[in-house]
Amino acid sequence: MNWYKVLQGKVKFKELLKDHTTFRIGGPAKFFIEPQDIDDLRLLLNSVKRYKIPILVIGAGSNILISDKGLDAVVLRLNSLHFKRISFRNNYLEVGSGAMLSQIVLSAQKHSLSGAEFLVGIPGTVGGALVMNAGIPDRNIGDLVENVTIMDYNGNVKTLNKKDIKFDYRVSSLSKYIILSACIKLVRRNKEEIKDKLNRYLNYRKVTQDLSFPSAGCIFKNPAGYSAGRLIDLCGLKGKRIGDACVSLKHANFILNLKRAKAGDVFRLMNLIRKEVKNKFHITLKPEIKIWR
Ligand code: EPU
Repeated sequence: MNWYKVLQGKVKFKELLKDHTTFRIGGPAKFFIEPQDIDDLRLLLNSVKRYKIPILVIGAGSNILISDKGLDAVVLRLNSLHFKRISFRNNYLEVGSGAMLSQIVLSAQKHSLSGAEFLVGIPGTVGGALVMNAGIPDRNIGDLVENVTIMDYNGNVKTLNKKDIKFDYRVSSLSKYIILSACIKLVRRNKEEIKDKLNRYLNYRKVTQDLSFPSAGCIFKNPAGYSAGRLIDLCGLKGKRIGDACVSLKHANFILNLKRAKAGDVFRLMNLIRKEVKNKFHITLKPEIKIWR
């Protein structure tokens, strides 16, 4: 199984995924690969095909819980310079899927372009954010998209217009592809005005969310008309702990990794939360985070 030898990018074996997730949880990936560019990515897909190994794309690892056993898979990270390019054309921003959201927000501010401020403080890549339509309650990244360039798992590249992409609350039709880049439409505004907005969004996060321990952000989606955090809070579960996994005292939809939490601790805590919320409110919480096991 020497298929990876043809690749130009970085190839690692048994890479510990906890070093690539914001939760700091996750066992080893059989292969961990950072393709150099689009051709290298296509070569990888073609070479690995006959071995039937699952291929999983990890972004900034911010919305994911990975088993401690690790994964018998190829985990892909689009982290080379090629996948992190950012360029501007009038009010449009062309951005590689591996770029961090914080980078695009700050670059947009430098160019006096507004509209993406609500993404500040979300520790994700553009690709990851697009796949799950990341955002805040009244704004999602999908609202900004003009088009998205993808590669399918046979190596074909295609640019999808916004009208051909379905974005919904924390899901999109892009999940069946590997996202390469996106074109985002912004509006021209004064830099000071943009700075004020950025500060307001950042401050709201600082005040309401627990950023002092590793976590995966909000664990559950908000059920229509409710805040999952408020429901969990009303069940009295703040501070509830299993192993080193603990419900945040500040925001009950955050589970914190206090030190050496196992994926199993988090699963058990999630099950307990779901059970209590179901018993008290007859509402079934659905995970927002992706679970790889
Ligand atoms: N609340 C409580 N107790 C808690 C948490 C919240 O009573 O423990 C109450 C708050 O006081 C507020 C309401 O619930 O009245 C809503 O809380 P918040 O404004 O924090 O918003 P949220 O619905 O819990 C959503 C997103 C967050 C995003 C914030 C920013 C989801 C599941 N969550 O949280 O996204 O950062 O809005 O406005 O959509 C994420 O996706 O990972 C995430 C953290």
